[in-house]
Amino acid sequence: MDLLETLRRYHDSGACPMHMPGHKRTGLGGELPWQLDITEIDGFDNLHDAQGILKESMDRAARLYGSDRAFFLVNGSTCGILAGICAAARPGDTVLLPRGCHKSVYHALELRDLVPVYLPVPADPSTGAAGSLPPGTVAEALAEHPEAKLVIVTSPTYEGVISDIASIVALAHGAGVPVLVDEAHGAHLGFSPAFPGGAVAAGADIVIQSLHKTLPSLTQTALAHWNRGLVDGEELARQLAVFETSSPSYLLMGSMDRCIRMLEARGGELFAAYEEHLAAFDEATRDLRHLRVLCHGGDSLQSHPDFFAFDPGKLVLCTRDTSLTGLGLMDILRKTYRIELEMALENYALAMTSICDTRESLLRLAGALQEIDSQLTETLPVQAAGPLPLPPRWLGMLEARRREGALLPLEEAIGHVSGGMVWAYPPGVPLLVPGEEVTAELCRTLQQMERGGIILHGENCDPPRTVWTVKNSGV
Ligand SMILES: Cc1ncc(COP(=O)(O)O)c(C=O)c1O
Repeated sequence: MDLLETLRRYHDSGACPMHMPGHKRTGLGGELPWQLDITEIDGFDNLHDAQGILKESMDRAARLYGSDRAFFLVNGSTCGILAGICAAARPGDTVLLPRGCHKSVYHALELRDLVPVYLPVPADPSTGAAGSLPPGTVAEALAEHPEAKLVIVTSPTYEGVISDIASIVALAHGAGVPVLVDEAHGAHLGFSPAFPGGAVAAGADIVIQSLHKTLPSLTQTALAHWNRGLVDGEELARQLAVFETSSPSYLLMGSMDRCIRMLEARGGELFAAYEEHLAAFDEATRDLRHLRVLCHGGDSLQSHPDFFAFDPGKLVLCTRDTSLTGLGLMDILRKTYRIELEMALENYALAMTSICDTRESLLRLAGALQEIDSQLTETLPVQAAGPLPLPPRWLGMLEARRREGALLPLEEAIGHVSGGMVWAYPPGVPLLVPGEEVTAELCRTLQQMERGGIILHGENCDPPRTVWTVKNSGV
C-alpha cells in the first residue's frame, strides 16, 4: 500500500496519539506536514525488523533495481557506507580503495581500524578530476594483497565518472573478495538506454545510493542494496541498526516509497523526457568557444580515455584555459543569472540535473553559458593539477586519534603526523587523513586552494592556517 496515502488515511481516522512524536501531529502550526509524521505504531511496521508495510516497500525497491534485498536509509548514504563497510570487513582487515572516496568511507575505516591500500586513479587532463578506476589496477592490487578483504569503489564520482563495475566485480569475486560501491550519485542509473547501468546490475555485493541526490526524494533518503554471495545480509541489517536511528521518519520513508513507485510506473516516460531536455542543452552548448561541458555538446566520452562511462545527468562546466575559474563561473551564474550550482573547484563548476528539470531550466543554463562564453578570453593552456601524491603513512587512523594531539601552524606541522582529517567541502574527499605525514606539498596545495576560494575544513583545526597533529610526532 502507498505509504504516504496510508499515513494520510490514518491521520483522517481521528486516532488519538498517546505516543511519540511530541508534536502530536499538530505541532505549532506552520507549514510542516505534522499530520503525516508518526512513529512506529500498530500497522506501520518497524524499519529495523520490517515485516509489513515497510518490508513491502523495500521489497519493491529491491525489485526495481534488481537487488536481492534493499534497505531504506534515513540518514543518507553516509549511514549505509558505514554499515556496509563494517558488515563486509572485520577489524584490522585490508581494504582496497581509490583515495578519492567520500569521508564517510574514511570514518568506517577508522571505526573498524582497517588498513587501506589506495588504488591509483588517472586524472582527467582537462579538469584534474578523477577518472575511472581501471580494472587492471584492481587486479594488480588483488594479486599484491592476497590478504585484502574488500574492494570499495566510488562510481559515479561527484563529477559523474563511472567505473567498469562488472569487470571489477568479476576480478574481485575471482579472488573471493566482495565489492562495495558508493553509488551515492547514481540512484538514477539504468532507467534508460542513455544512462549507463548501475552497480547492482553489475553484480556488486553492496551498493549504496542516495535517492535524494539525483531522484525526487526528500533529503537524507537513500538505499542500501545487498546481493547474495560474499557478504552476510543479516550482518548488514545489524550494522544498519547500529548506525541508523531507531526512530526513522515516516515522511522520509514515505518519500522513498513514492519515488520508487513513480519510477516503477513512469520511469521510462520520465527518463525519455529527461534525455530530450539534456539533448536540447547539448545542442545549445555545442558551439561554446571557450567553456566546455564534459561529455556534452562539443565534447564527448571518446575524448576522455580515462573515463569508462559518464553520467549524462552531470554538467561539468570546464573553465580551464579561460580567464575564469570554476568558482568565478559559479559566482557569475549565481549573481547575474540566479542559477545556483552544486559546487565548483579551480577548473570547473558542477551543475546537477534530474528528471525534475525542465527543458526551460536546462536551456536557461545553456543560454547563460553562451552569454558568458561570448565575453570570455582564452588564456595560455595550463595543465590541470592532478591528485596530490600519497603522503607517507606512519600510523593507523585509529591509533593516530588515540595519541595526544597538538595544534600547529601549518608550516610548523610539516614533517609531523596528522591527528585529524582535512577536506574541502564539497566534495568531502579527505586531503589529509589521521596517521599521514603533513608534507610541504600538501601545505602548498591547501594554501593554493584557499587562495582560489575553496572552503577547507579540518578536525580540531582551521586549515590552511593550522592542522591538528599527533604530539611530538616530528619525523
Ligand atoms: C561520493 C559520495 N558518497 C557519499 C556521500 C554521502 O551521502 P549522503 O549525503 O547521502 O549521506 C556523498 C555526499 O556528498 C558523496 O558525494
